[in-house]
Amino acid sequence: MSSQATLEKIVSLCKRRGFVYPSADIYGGINGVYDLGHLGTLMKHNIRNTWMQSIQTDLGDIIFMEGALLGPEAVWQASGHIENFHDPMVDCMQCKKRYRADDIDLEKACPHCGNTEWTDIKQFNMMFKTNLGAAGSAIAYLRPETAQAIFVNFKNVMSTNRVKIPFGIAQIGKAFRNEITPKQFLFRMREFEQMEMEFFCRPENTGKFFEAWQKIRFDFYQKIGVNQSNLRLRPHEKDELAHYSSQCVDVEYQFPFGWKELEGIADRGNFDLSQHIKHSGKDLSVHDEATKESFVPHVVECSVGVDRLFLTLLFDAYTEDDVEGEVRTVLKLHPKIAPIKAAFLPLSKKISEPMLKLFNEVKKQTGLQLMFDESGSIGKRYRRQDEIGTPVCFTYDFDSETDSSVTVRDRDSLKQERISMDQVERYVKDLLKEG
Ligand code: GAP
Repeated sequence: MSSQATLEKIVSLCKRRGFVYPSADIYGGINGVYDLGHLGTLMKHNIRNTWMQSIQTDLGDIIFMEGALLGPEAVWQASGHIENFHDPMVDCMQCKKRYRADDIDLEKACPHCGNTEWTDIKQFNMMFKTNLGAAGSAIAYLRPETAQAIFVNFKNVMSTNRVKIPFGIAQIGKAFRNEITPKQFLFRMREFEQMEMEFFCRPENTGKFFEAWQKIRFDFYQKIGVNQSNLRLRPHEKDELAHYSSQCVDVEYQFPFGWKELEGIADRGNFDLSQHIKHSGKDLSVHDEATKESFVPHVVECSVGVDRLFLTLLFDAYTEDDVEGEVRTVLKLHPKIAPIKAAFLPLSKKISEPMLKLFNEVKKQTGLQLMFDESGSIGKRYRRQDEIGTPVCFTYDFDSETDSSVTVRDRDSLKQERISMDQVERYVKDLLKEG
C-alpha cells in the first residue's frame, strides 16, 4: 500500500470521481451496501476478466457457471451454514453498541463509551432469510457464498461438459452476509461479490493442488501490479478454520488497518459433496474407468471478493507525488485494471475535430474504454486522468496539424514522446500486452 493512502482519501476519491457511491445515498444510505458508478463498473469488469484468465492453467479444465442467489433451506442445512455460519456478537451494557466479539478485547473498555461491562457473547447467524410466495411457507436464504451452487451442480456440470478429474468449476457472483459490523468501506460489506473456483481432484492429490493453487493465486496479484511487499501468505490456525475446511491459507494484504485476508485458499476435503450426498440422497461420486472404483472428489477452493480486491487495488495504486511544486494524486493502476485505457486531448477546442476523429476510430477498432476530453486547461485534464488511473494521454497540438503526430504522456513517469497518429491504435493495444 502506498504510504499516502488512507481510507478517507480512497472513499472520497471513489465518490468524487464516480467509482463507488453509498447505496440509496439520497435516503442516507444503507450500511454495508454500495453502488458503482461508471468508472467503478468498468474497473470491476476488468477485475473479473483478469481473474477469469488467471485461473486458466495447465492443472485441469475450468468450467464456468452462474448459480442463483436464492437457495432453498435444504441446501444450507446440508452445507452446515444454518448450524455454523455464525459470528460471535457482544453488546456494551452501557451504550448498547454492538461489536463482533472477535474484533475487540473484552478485557478492555468499550471503545465508544469507556464502560467495561459486556453482555454474554451470543452467536449470530449471518444469512439473510426470506419466505417464498404468498403463503410464505417455504424458506429460502440469500447465498452467503457462491460455492454451494457449484457443489449442488457438480453432477450437471460433469455430465454436460465431458470433463474428467482433476478439473475446476468457477463462478463470479453476489453473496450476502448480515455482517454485525460492516466496515472499512468495501472491505466488509453486507452485499458483495465473490470469485470462487472449486478444484475437484482425487483425495491423494489434494496436497499437491493445495500447494500449486497457493502459488498461482499469489503470483496473480503481482501480475496485476500489486506491490509484493504488501502481500503475504498466512496459514490459518486450527481455531480459525471454517466448519468445512481442514486447512486454509490466506493471501493477505497490508491495508492501513493492518494485514487482512484478501483471498482464502482452502482444502475443503469432500465435506460439501458428502453432505449433499447425505441430504439429497443423490449420488455425487465419480467413477474411475481405469481403476473401476468410485470416489467422492476432494476440493481445493480459491475464493476472493471482487469488491475487496477492488479496494486493495485502489490502496495499492494510490500515490501522491510532487509535480512542479503541486501535489498530484495518481492511481498507478495496471493498464488491464484501469477503467479508461487512454485519453484523447486536443490542446484547444479550435483543433478538436481531428482528435475526435482519431478517438472514434481507435475506439471502434479496439473496442476499449477510452475518453475524449476537450474542456479545461491541459494541466487540469492531465490531473483528472491521473486521478482515475488512465495509463496514457494523447495530446493533439498545433504542430499535429502539420506533422500528423501527437504527444503521448505516460501517467507514471510523466515522460512525453511524439508518435505518428497512425501508430496510436497499436500503442493502445500494446498497453494490454502480456509481459
Ligand atoms: N467459499 C469460501 C468463503 O466464502 P470467506 O473467507 O468467508 O470464504 C472468501 O470469503 C472471500 O470473500 C474473502 O477472502 C473476501 O475477499 C470476500 N469476503 C468475505 N466476506 C466479505 C464481506 N463481508 N465483504 C466483502 N468481501 C467479503
